[in-house]
Amino acid sequence: ATDLKGRHFLKETDFTAEEFHGLVELAAELKAAKRTGVEEPLLRGRHIALVFEKTSTRTRCAFEVAAADQGARTTYLDPAGSQIGHKESVKDTARVLGRMFDAIEYRGHGQHILEQLAAHAGVPVFNGLTDEWHPTQMLADVLTMSEHTAKSLEHVAYAYLGDARYNMGNSYLVTGALLGMDVRIVAPEELWPDPEIVAVARRLAAVSGARITLTADVAEGVRGADFVATDVWVSMGEPKEVWDARIALLAPYAVTMDVLRATGNPAVKFLHCLPAFHDLGTTVAREIHERHGLTSLEVTDEVFESPHSVVFDQAENRMHTIKAVLVATLARD
Ligand code: CP
Ligand code: NVA
Repeated sequence: ATDLKGRHFLKETDFTAEEFHGLVELAAELKAAKRTGVEEPLLRGRHIALVFEKTSTRTRCAFEVAAADQGARTTYLDPAGSQIGHKESVKDTARVLGRMFDAIEYRGHGQHILEQLAAHAGVPVFNGLTDEWHPTQMLADVLTMSEHTAKSLEHVAYAYLGDARYNMGNSYLVTGALLGMDVRIVAPEELWPDPEIVAVARRLAAVSGARITLTADVAEGVRGADFVATDVWVSMGEPKEVWDARIALLAPYAVTMDVLRATGNPAVKFLHCLPAFHDLGTTVAREIHERHGLTSLEVTDEVFESPHSVVFDQAENRMHTIKAVLVATLARD
């Protein structure tokens, strides 16, 4: 079994490809055990702090349900309800939580804050999303891909369309590179991942045999893909002022039925980490909703509601994969 006792999970590359695969396999085992009613709780008496400086539905619920299934307890600190970062330093918070909890999940802004927390906590720290990475999401996405393809993962191609300069784009790039997959980042060049992250991915690909493509051309990027993925065009924590320019840049990258057809693969599946954009509170969003009748900008309702879409399997798999992280890092011998 995968043993990552005491390890942090701050970004995908904290694990080797073998360890990453081990977590996905453990998640599949835990999922099957829960379905058949034979799950064994391995985390009785463990306490896990869930620190959220940004909002969440899936990640929070996944940690809470996973921990409860395994006999552990969680304490949720919401974006407004703790002292972290305003009344108390990250370093002191880490040392306090580390005295009470066996592990800490943290969702926030900069990766450097998470790293500081991990450096001082003395217990495993898990990244529940930062501006830079969303590694627990990648475990769920890889499990979902493995469930929806008969191919082994090194033969799977996926294309990520949209804002690739943020957590999801970065994470898709390095995860596929780590696991030896065929990764296409399809976005206007201004929104490609930072060159340093591309360099990391290329180094990983040289070892794993991954194929990496960065392109602004949708047809080229999606051709032959087994999976097409997207994310919101403006992420949590970004200012409202970026909206107009972002929409103008990304309009040609919305996932439509034409995009799925351009893969040439009738069995292509659609992925979205969710939430799909649904903010009708802004003028620009309301206009788009009224003009085009779309719930989201990044994907049409036709695609989202079609049999191609596996987004709710993905959402469920957040729980099974997060459970695998907890079991692998925290279970007693
Ligand atoms: N995919 C994801 O992280 O969702 P939440 O923001 O709801 O946790
Ligand atoms: N890129 C999105 C992902 C949400 C799960 C965000 O950071 O808001």
